[in-house]
Amino acid sequence: MDLKPGGIPHPHDYKRFLTRIIESYDSTIIRAYCKVRFTIININILHIIALCLRGKRKVLDVGCGFGLLGCYFSSLYPQIRYYGYDLNPRRIDMASRAARRLGLNNITFHCQDACTMKLDEQFDAIMMVDLLHHITDDSKYALLKNCALHLAPDGRLIIKDVTTHPSLKLAFTWAMDVLVTRSYNMWYWDENKFLSTLQQLFDRVDTFPITDWLPYPHIVYLAESINRHSSSVCS
Ligand SMILES: C[S@@+](CC[C@H](N)C(=O)[O-])C[C@H]1O[C@@H](n2cnc3c(N)ncnc32)[C@H](O)[C@@H]1O
Repeated sequence: MDLKPGGIPHPHDYKRFLTRIIESYDSTIIRAYCKVRFTIININILHIIALCLRGKRKVLDVGCGFGLLGCYFSSLYPQIRYYGYDLNPRRIDMASRAARRLGLNNITFHCQDACTMKLDEQFDAIMMVDLLHHITDDSKYALLKNCALHLAPDGRLIIKDVTTHPSLKLAFTWAMDVLVTRSYNMWYWDENKFLSTLQQLFDRVDTFPITDWLPYPHIVYLAESINRHSSSVCS
């Protein structure tokens, strides 16, 4: 079996690759959460995001949670420099410990509020996986604009979120979100809302709806600009 320098199995053996990441977390409860999370964000979604990240160097993951995806992509692409931001200091602490345990030295995690974060550098890719429906609409607009302004000229914004239909899938997603966040407040957007907003900031937006056996209405959006610093973004 192929072993990478950090002792992580090669991603073509993805089950062992994911298991190794899950095992790097201290707590049994968090390991169980990570297993569930990697089932929800399944290997096909990871493959889509991996393709979106291919060739990118500096990657910002806003709302990175326990850093599962950060550990996955920074192991998959050792040449990237990965920055994970999350509001929750406990999650940031666990993410940092897991990355250390995996021997990853191309990733750092930071406690930051997506709604007030000040970015003073540019990124080749910014990703947000299941973050935006936790953020009010006004803050979403400001955050998306902030991201558009801090992408390198050939940079990419990668969003994985859920849409609002079919209503049974949305109801299930909402119930799970309530359970995990212990709050009733979620601000879901359908794909028309995402598209009309992203199209004001980016030249090209692609939408990849995901169909799998799970009752989540997943969608991946990929947004890019040719002339990023056009007046529409800066105004
Ligand atoms: C559903 S989890 C997704 C975590 C991670 N992206 C993943 O896919 O495993 C949503 C994350 O967003 C974070 N979050 C919510 N509001 C935030 C904010 N205003 N700024 C930064 N992170 C936030 C939460 O702490 C949580 O870790």
